[in-house]
Amino acid sequence: MHFHKFEKIWLGFGILSLLLFLSIIGVTAFAFNHQPSGGLETIDPEKVHETAPFDNPGTHKINDDTYEVIIVAKAFGYEPPEIKVPVGKKIIFKVTSTDVTHSFSIINTNVNMMVVPGQINTKEYTFDKPGEYLVICNEYCGTGHHFMKTTIEVIE
Ligand code: CUA
Repeated sequence: MHFHKFEKIWLGFGILSLLLFLSIIGVTAFAFNHQPSGGLETIDPEKVHETAPFDNPGTHKINDDTYEVIIVAKAFGYEPPEIKVPVGKKIIFKVTSTDVTHSFSIINTNVNMMVVPGQINTKEYTFDKPGEYLVICNEYCGTGHHFMKTTIEVIE
């Protein structure tokens, strides 16, 4: 009889531990799903081309002083293929990836963003001088990594 009682206690203890374990996993998964990397915007990487604003990559005027540039990175290039922005205006770059992690790094500027599938990264920059600016991918992303680049034309 005593053994039977102990078995019941241990069984109860085992079930309790299992429930506790599952709830910790559940809470962790919930927290992770809803706040990856401290409140970044998220996106379904499979539906980038159907999800605003990435359904319309390119330069969009927001107001007289502010432009938004929507960019989709993928192996091994950037959409849109040509980027043109005005000099002396606030440019808000918004990037995401459809496949693996890339970067969007504009040479000779402080714009050096990770482009992570499932996340939307944003960086503001104002170009002081017109000209062509080279953009490269700084994150190794596969066989075409070294060819992954584009240019931004900054116009008066
Ligand atoms: Cu994309 Cu390296």
